[in-house]
Amino acid sequence: MSADLSPIDKAKFAAAKRAADYVEDGMRVGLGTGSTAAWLVKCLGEQVREEGLKIRAVPTSTRTAALAQDVGINVVSLDEAKWLDLTIDGADEYDDDLNLIKGGGGALLQEKIVATASDQMIVIADAGKKVDTLGAFPLPVEVIPFGWQTTKTLIEETLTGMDVLGRTASLRLNGDVPFVTDEGNYILDLHLNRIGNARQLSLVLNQMPGLVENGLFIDICDTVVIGHGDGKVEVRDINAGTVEQNQIDFVENDNLFTDLAE
Ligand code: 5RP
Repeated sequence: MSADLSPIDKAKFAAAKRAADYVEDGMRVGLGTGSTAAWLVKCLGEQVREEGLKIRAVPTSTRTAALAQDVGINVVSLDEAKWLDLTIDGADEYDDDLNLIKGGGGALLQEKIVATASDQMIVIADAGKKVDTLGAFPLPVEVIPFGWQTTKTLIEETLTGMDVLGRTASLRLNGDVPFVTDEGNYILDLHLNRIGNARQLSLVLNQMPGLVENGLFIDICDTVVIGHGDGKVEVRDINAGTVEQNQIDFVENDNLFTDLAE
């Protein structure tokens, strides 16, 4: 069944499988959102079912919550868990300092709350997510629906004074209606092309009324696990300054590979 996976899916799986090694019995674990995080949830579900792994997991979206419950993971709210040992999530971009753009899946608000409430955040990604400078991927920002067009104009005007190469914002759509987040908000995607000062931009954006949170994750991620289509995995730990290479074998396993959706 793994032969049916594209190289990119194999890379995502390899990263997720390696990152699952960080999860230990008794941990409170944040579960990210997106296609890479979905592999992680499936890997952890397998460990729960077959090895008796006991964890309490806090999902970062209704999608992830549904998948986690489906695969047998004990799901709790962040308020129940209070604090987490570890969060594992995907990313849309990461740079050399492990600063990130997230929110491609529209879950950036819960993702940032959960990652910030964790002792450690591990990002799982294929190698294509690495950039020298953040910003080629449109930066998602979550805005409240009330007055969103005014908020959009305010953002675009504010971008005039920022170190970015593009300055337009577009409302994310779901078909021909606005995409609505789990919190009932909208997403604006900021087409910046290059973000010269991500820390400053994040602070400025978050001061705007109507803007709930932005998709820049600055100084939140500790480790990135980068998967490749041939099963090679690289683990970069920013705190320890280490880089480790591993190899993941694609073992045929119908349970894990049956559902390739997400
Ligand atoms: C969701 C996210 C995802 O982690 C990000 O979009 C990466 O997704 P994928 O693993 O599908 O490439 O931030 O809000």
